[in-house]
Amino acid sequence: MPETIKLDATQTTDIEKAASLLLAGHLVAMPTETVYGLAADASNEQAVRKVFEAKQRPVGHPLIVHVASPERIRYWVDRVPEAAEKLINTFWPGPLTLLLPKKSDVSDFITGGNPGVAVRMPAHPATVATMEKLGRDLVAPSANPYGRISPTTAEHVLGGLSGKIAAVLDGGDCSVGIESTIVDLTGETPVIARPGQISQSDIEACLGITLAPGKGASQVVPGSVKRHYQPVTPTVGVATDQFARLLPEITPSGERIGVIWWQSAPGELASESIMLSADPNEYSRMLYTAMHSMDQANVDRIVIELPPRESRWLAVHDRLGRACTEQFG
Ligand code: TXA
Ligand code: MG
Repeated sequence: MPETIKLDATQTTDIEKAASLLLAGHLVAMPTETVYGLAADASNEQAVRKVFEAKQRPVGHPLIVHVASPERIRYWVDRVPEAAEKLINTFWPGPLTLLLPKKSDVSDFITGGNPGVAVRMPAHPATVATMEKLGRDLVAPSANPYGRISPTTAEHVLGGLSGKIAAVLDGGDCSVGIESTIVDLTGETPVIARPGQISQSDIEACLGITLAPGKGASQVVPGSVKRHYQPVTPTVGVATDQFARLLPEITPSGERIGVIWWQSAPGELASESIMLSADPNEYSRMLYTAMHSMDQANVDRIVIELPPRESRWLAVHDRLGRACTEQFG
């Protein structure tokens, strides 16, 4: 494949170029408010196949269909429950994916053979404009090689997929920084299948109900494997309340340690360090960027100071639980 080209999301001609590449069945990485997505024309099975090849993602892992307007979900979804309407009116465009009963003709390639199809309207204007120009919907998993950290900049995308995709549309840094919340609406009661910035309490407030966390999941989200979102460098997490005590204990002398912290400055034990915010949204926005840069920093081990075990940190803990091979404290 020829070299991956970088397109500029602020240029109308580049948005048109992205749309024409997609129409021709090529892969284009697109900015969203959560993470960059690896987009293909959802109506072109050959193009959808290329997504699995480029990411080296096992076939059978289903893909989210991205739409430019709520009306377009009727091409994918068999029936729109009232809860879905409420959530769409409140949160779209935005970092919320809905799992809904699929229309019978939706390809198993997209749903992994599941009875539900995942749909979302992203908030990045350039991606919405590209889909409008294309007049079709896009499948878009995160634009990282399978198992690796999701990209939050165009440079991250190129670092993982350069030469394997036709283009990346550079729309700047992602504002949310972690993947969308997934709400499964195919069962009797709504279930959060993947936590994200839109929290359980946001969803409960919108629907006027209380959700039973983790109970009654009508489907397992297949991409939610334990090891996921991992840096290449071995990565461990350490509880914040024991960080100062445990950091020297778990640091073999002579090892170069890269520390990602938010409260407990690591001092001289760290060869490299990156400080993140004490605010969960701000922390999420920078988390993958920090992991990507630590992965490039030539350290032997990455140590992450874990945030408190509080519900507002749930999505962050979900991602850190997958990124870290081990947690201490
Ligand atoms: O924020 C996001 O959701 C990003 C951006 C690019 O939109 N996309 C993303 O896609 O995170 P991906 O493929 O990396 O993760 C999607 C998750 C996977 O765990 C997948 O198994 C699940 O959604 N999923 C998608 N379609 C599904 C379906 N029909 N049934 C069950 N799970 C599904
Ligand atoms: Mg992903």
